[in-house]
Amino acid sequence: MKHIKPIIFALILGAGMAFSCQNNDDSEPKEISKSDDKILQKADSILGLMTLDEKIGQLNQYSVGAEMTGPGDKGSTSQKRYEMLLNGEVGSVLNLLGAENTYKLQKQVVEQSRLGIPLIFAYDVVHGYKTMFPLPLAESCSWNLDLMQQSAAVAAKEAASAGLQWTFAPMVDVSVDARWGRVMEGAGEDPYLGSLIAQARVKGFQGNDLSSNNTIAACAKHFAGYGFVESGKDYNNVNINKHELLNRILPPFKDAAQVDVATFMNAFNDMLGIPSTGNSYLLREKLRQDWGYEGVVVSDWNSIGEMVNHGTVEDLKGAAKEAIIAGSDIDMEADAYSKYLKELVENKTVDISLINEAVSRVLVLKYKLGLFEDPYKYADSARENKELLSQENLAVSREMASESIVLLKNETNLLPLNKKKRVAVIGPLAKDKDAPLGNWRAAAQSNTAVSFYEGLKSALGQEAMISYAKGCDLSIGPNNFFDELEINETDKSGFSEAMAKASNAEVVFMVLGEPAYMSGEGRSRSNIGLPGVQLDLLKEVYKVNKNIVLVLMNGRPLTLEWEHENIPTILETWHLGSEAGNAIADVITGQVNPSGKLTMSFPRNVGQVPIYYNHKTSGRPSTAPGQVFYTHHTDVDNSPLFPFGFGLSYSEFEYGELKLSKKALEAENDSIVVSIAVSNKSKVDGNEIVQLYIQDEVGSITRPVKELKGFEKVAIAAGETKQVSFTIKPENLAYYRRDFTYGTEPGSFKVLIGASSAVSNYKTFTLK
Ligand code: NOJ
Repeated sequence: MKHIKPIIFALILGAGMAFSCQNNDDSEPKEISKSDDKILQKADSILGLMTLDEKIGQLNQYSVGAEMTGPGDKGSTSQKRYEMLLNGEVGSVLNLLGAENTYKLQKQVVEQSRLGIPLIFAYDVVHGYKTMFPLPLAESCSWNLDLMQQSAAVAAKEAASAGLQWTFAPMVDVSVDARWGRVMEGAGEDPYLGSLIAQARVKGFQGNDLSSNNTIAACAKHFAGYGFVESGKDYNNVNINKHELLNRILPPFKDAAQVDVATFMNAFNDMLGIPSTGNSYLLREKLRQDWGYEGVVVSDWNSIGEMVNHGTVEDLKGAAKEAIIAGSDIDMEADAYSKYLKELVENKTVDISLINEAVSRVLVLKYKLGLFEDPYKYADSARENKELLSQENLAVSREMASESIVLLKNETNLLPLNKKKRVAVIGPLAKDKDAPLGNWRAAAQSNTAVSFYEGLKSALGQEAMISYAKGCDLSIGPNNFFDELEINETDKSGFSEAMAKASNAEVVFMVLGEPAYMSGEGRSRSNIGLPGVQLDLLKEVYKVNKNIVLVLMNGRPLTLEWEHENIPTILETWHLGSEAGNAIADVITGQVNPSGKLTMSFPRNVGQVPIYYNHKTSGRPSTAPGQVFYTHHTDVDNSPLFPFGFGLSYSEFEYGELKLSKKALEAENDSIVVSIAVSNKSKVDGNEIVQLYIQDEVGSITRPVKELKGFEKVAIAAGETKQVSFTIKPENLAYYRRDFTYGTEPGSFKVLIGASSAVSNYKTFTLK
């Protein structure tokens, strides 16, 4: 408090004070409604004191500190930026980390700028801050919303203790293209599941009270359609129709807005022909008008500047104008607002009311974060030291990691491992302590994850018989966020040692996959098989020992046709974070029975991409056997290798007959209960993710062949049978129809309940 400028201080404590000051950092959560008039009034009173330069400053965001999460030349601008910060010409910064660093800068800005308005410190806390959690795509395979919420809450707690108040997460982009490197950051291909996960993550980051020093503001990104960049190439254009936008892409954004996500971020791509950053259909019509969203919209890194490259504006000035008019509040890194907004307001091209609205939203966020009460409340080095990588946080990470693993194949029951077996551990990722941290690893230290080898060794104990060979290198040269990765495509000198070790073992663990920086931003691939010489290594080892467990570490679905045909056991572990090796060992030893199910289809080959379970049917879905005249490739089956929703367990589940409480549903205030018995036929307790799908058989526009409408993760003891039921209401059948209105259409619906999206037994009901 004592550091706040008198003028702001007086406003905060003034008559009709909107909120009570906090006495300590752990006070009870308090409700702040998003349209709290008193907060708006406070923001307005500050607004009244601000010069135009200071207002524009609040809309200006820079990257400061050693981290850079986008292209640019920081060196030449840093002094100027520092001066602008002290002048109150910057409202928020990204990439400055640590309680001490953020405290120092905050103090300078609060004490030296005229009004002393505190900064917001933002960072990409995508799957953990210091304690790394599994990649978001991996976590989504747990279908465990509570645990994902907890994972985000731990990340928020750590980040907040390091002086941060805002994460650029969750990424809620639906994507059906595994070539796109950023699928690792999302929740897969399904908008329904994606919505629920988006909400869980927002709730986790933000908690009940943004002003608590344990929570941070979240950001629904990238608005909108970034997951559909053409050919999976990052930053590319998006060609998608409006119905797909409304029915497939926007639902997770809308649902994030519904749980009051504090901020939205623009997408780099165009949408319906207009760059998203300057797209008033998205930002004004959908977000503000239709959804009533009142939070802040931040551009992506220089996405205002990139509108010039998109070719819809002539220059940066034009971009600034289009972006502010469309509804982008904060300019991240383009310097477009700082350079041109003043002139645009003064020559009446841009109405001052647009600036005032945007600034007011930023100030309201600062109030909600509690920064006007105490700008330093997040920056506490003692708390930071205690919080980061605490045993408690690591335990949550390990639990989340073991639930994220997906067992893809276990034909000869090599898993769970008989601990007495002689084991060989082979592969470039077996002892790798870096890959499991994944990309977007925030403040994690390189090479700090528990490796597969370490995890297995500690699980199997002293007497374990484990031999090891690396087999080959995977990446060579720099391994970081910026540089292109170089993959070893030639050196096979380690193969012979690997083969010797394998031939001596009873079970061989082949730990293969992608290094951390092969997925994530700027990491699109045109071939998505095992990179480098790894498949060759696997084939060689297979010649000497067929008892192979293939342990995969990767950030996207891979093409695994040969592997699937030949290798008896395949475990998809993704990049699981700090506790990776322990979590994988938990599953391998049967300590944890795997229960994850895929949230993105695995293609058979890259030519099938995009491939997703909820595609439309076509005019020619099939034909008489032997004829060519239908929708297919002549050289590959139409099905994916592993479908959405698929994953095995050490238990064996059997589904009974599907039952419907009735055959017809009234158009309003009615419901049907669908139920099924699920039995665990094995001797092992397990968890099964039971999935409900529907198909709208006839619609005013073409409809998906299946849509997920519900799921339940059910614990079923060995030998037990459980009844699982779902309630279907008319609103669950609504969608954006031919005329773009949202609602239901009468007709017949198929309903299916099963273990994956490949379920085929159905019953039908009608909606009247
Ligand atoms: C660009 C990325 O697209 C976005 O997701 C990220 O939040 C920003 N850079 C800031 O690092």
